[in-house]
Amino acid sequence: MAGVEIAVDGLTKSFGAQRIWQDVSLTLPRGEVSVLLGPSGTGKSVFLKSLIGLLRPEEGSIMIDGTDILTCTAKELYEIRKMFGVLFQDGALFGSMNLYDNVAFPLREHTAKSESEVRKVVMAKLDMVGLTGSEDKLPGEISGGMRKRAGLARALVLDPQIVLCDEPDSGLDPVRTAYLSQQLIDINAETDATILIVTHNIQLARTVPDNMGMLFRKELVMFGPREVLLTSDEPVVEQFLNGRRIGPIGMSEEKDSAQMSQEQAMVEAGHSDGGAPEDVRGVVPQLEPTPGRPIRTAVARRQARVEEIMHTLPPSAQAAVSESLRSEGRHSALTPA
Ligand SMILES: Nc1ncnc2c1ncn2[C@@H]1O[C@H](COP(=O)(O)OP(=O)(O)O)[C@@H](O)[C@H]1O
Ligand SMILES: [Mg+2]
Repeated sequence: MAGVEIAVDGLTKSFGAQRIWQDVSLTLPRGEVSVLLGPSGTGKSVFLKSLIGLLRPEEGSIMIDGTDILTCTAKELYEIRKMFGVLFQDGALFGSMNLYDNVAFPLREHTAKSESEVRKVVMAKLDMVGLTGSEDKLPGEISGGMRKRAGLARALVLDPQIVLCDEPDSGLDPVRTAYLSQQLIDINAETDATILIVTHNIQLARTVPDNMGMLFRKELVMFGPREVLLTSDEPVVEQFLNGRRIGPIGMSEEKDSAQMSQEQAMVEAGHSDGGAPEDVRGVVPQLEPTPGRPIRTAVARRQARVEEIMHTLPPSAQAAVSESLRSEGRHSALTPA
């Protein structure tokens, strides 16, 4: 089993007269991990729900494994949906079922597996997310981090080729988020699934994905190899990555230019804007699978792909890509074949 590519082209979504985003085009490469950033309310969850066909954009196409899910039949959509595992924002566990039954639910619902086969799969998935021993607990008896991991185990139980995670880190402390980040990379190494993560967590965004994009002002600001966004000097990207108040993103809506220049003057006069003291810029090494797990086969495919589009990237991103390719090369040279 390997992941499948998702190619989104010219996608536009409105609710009544409210335009959520327009002309969104991006490709999630097969088996790679991608992150989608964006201020609250920019339609990230709407985008994820569109990818599984729960919401219907009015224009554009979403090609999954050769099928446009916006024009296909209900039966085809049903089949395509089976490729997905989704972790919704709240984990969405059944409160009256223990973790074992929660994780077993999709297997009992969608497969003809015997209870002993179900047991094998459930125990393996619970082990994968570090929940062995907690199978009898109810969702109400465990921490938010454990609920997230149980939700992840349930999302993975049908061996999905595509995994969507909507803010998997929300409500988690930085240490739990770091564990979760590692888990997502390990899962990708084990399954080669195509993974899309929506997150506000900068540390996760900087260390986990192969590709990154950002939604802002009803548009996809950019999408591509992680190095492009991480070295970008686009004001909205910089503001977001540094958690600053100063910049185009406001509390409730975008700011006007008068307000922006007033704020800029305050910062120049030495006022803090609450962001990181040093610029959070540049590329940090990507997480690697935990020793003992398989290597990520996506890494080599991505290298070839990025080398091909290298000449189209901005100079700062090209330098960062060359640097990460060098260190990945060094690493794989050290790894016994
Ligand atoms: N089913 C729906 N019907 C009408 N409006 C919706 C629906 N779902 C989301 N919206 C609106 O779409 C916008 C984007 O929402 P959402 O995707 O949840 O943002 P994000 O996940 O980026 O924070 C919001 O203004 C929200 O109110
Ligand atoms: Mg959301």
